[in-house]
Amino acid sequence: MTSKLWGGRFTGEADADFVRFNRSFDFDRRLIHADVRASIAHAAALFKAGVLTTEEARAITEGLLEISRRAAADPNYLVDDQAEDVHSFIEARLVEMVGQVGRKLHTGRSRNDQVATAFRLWLREEFDRIVELVRDLQRALVEFAARHEEAVMPGYTHLQRAQPVLFAHWCLAYFEMFARDRERLRDARRRTNVLPLGSGALAGTSYSLDREEMARALGFEAVSRNSLDAVSDRDFCIEFAAAASLIMVHLSRLAEDMIIYATAEFGFIELSDAVATGSSLMPQKKNPDALELIRGKAGRVFGQTVALLSVMKGLPLAYNKDMQEDKEAIFDLVDTAKDCLKVMAKVLRNARLNEERTRAAVRQGFMNATELADYLVRKGVPFRDAHEAAGRMVLAAIERGVELHELPLEVMRAVSPVIEEDVLFALTLDATLGTKNQTGGTAPKRVREALKEAELSLRD
Ligand code: ARG
Repeated sequence: MTSKLWGGRFTGEADADFVRFNRSFDFDRRLIHADVRASIAHAAALFKAGVLTTEEARAITEGLLEISRRAAADPNYLVDDQAEDVHSFIEARLVEMVGQVGRKLHTGRSRNDQVATAFRLWLREEFDRIVELVRDLQRALVEFAARHEEAVMPGYTHLQRAQPVLFAHWCLAYFEMFARDRERLRDARRRTNVLPLGSGALAGTSYSLDREEMARALGFEAVSRNSLDAVSDRDFCIEFAAAASLIMVHLSRLAEDMIIYATAEFGFIELSDAVATGSSLMPQKKNPDALELIRGKAGRVFGQTVALLSVMKGLPLAYNKDMQEDKEAIFDLVDTAKDCLKVMAKVLRNARLNEERTRAAVRQGFMNATELADYLVRKGVPFRDAHEAAGRMVLAAIERGVELHELPLEVMRAVSPVIEEDVLFALTLDATLGTKNQTGGTAPKRVREALKEAELSLRD
């Protein structure tokens, strides 16, 4: 028997190239368990609506469960060059298994509401897995910070040394980005978790299917309110893609920071052999391939996001076959984002900070110049003038080849007479860090608190 779902009105044979072109089974078979679950809920609704007898509903449900079991047990079960898509595959196997009664399952439903339902169910689980991977990455960041709680490093703007910060502060900056990512995923999951089944092909269904009951059985929080929208909406895919894209932006920036910090020029971070490679030509090389691949794969994720947006933008209501293109994009997004999150957590757990190098870097480059201006402000100088005076002292230090705290007091006083002995304390690293004592600042006390809060927030 052919596994085609729509033979009746056709007399001609389909073109072989077109058949291959039209097929989605080779990739959408991933939806098999989700589609089986949704079909079981549909069978229960058909029974309640009086379309299936108890016996028929039982036979169909058992057949569907068996299909799921076989698919899980044997990957070869899902090799089929006939099936058009996962929905036709399941129906064909069901009819083989339980006979003609299997042909009743599709009553009151279309592949349009069916695929939207299975895809939402499938993606909902991936949302949950990715939330856990983001959480684990955040944990790895907290651990990295905790391994180097006292470490200081230069903070940069324009990749120029700017002001000293605690290394833990840098770790927690990324922690915050991933905290927002986790929130975004949860938020988008809520809108994904809506049941389209019962929308039919586009107009709704003429059978009295209990949609609320199907939603409850499948763990959906709501039922869709408009059938045209329900079968043609792929916002949930795009929201997921957007959230994944932002995750990749954050991963890629973290990768970039670490790639720079792992250069000999910086020498701040040592990557573990476990996540680096050598060169086939240069024996001394240790290359940060894991991080570079993460940075590179960000481009790929953005590409899939743009693909989804472009597929959707010109589509008339309701379902159009263009929408089958959503599958490969989403599958690739899910796989890539998960891989990158896992690998980044490994990189972090195996990385080592060279605290001596970062501390030495902080001592050079006039990173306390802002502190000097703030010192002058505390002595009553307007900030604009203080900034100017501190700049002149930086110039004097450059000319002498020394750092600010090594400038003789008379030289400083010649620029700004309000300067006293206590300037030396103001210019120390401890003072520079300690004054950044507002919420969100890098004062050690604040960072210790922030680390504790970060740890606590990992629980929700
Ligand atoms: N494979 C199709 C998809 O992924 C399933 C829905 C097909 N519906 C239809 N009317 N052709 O979109």
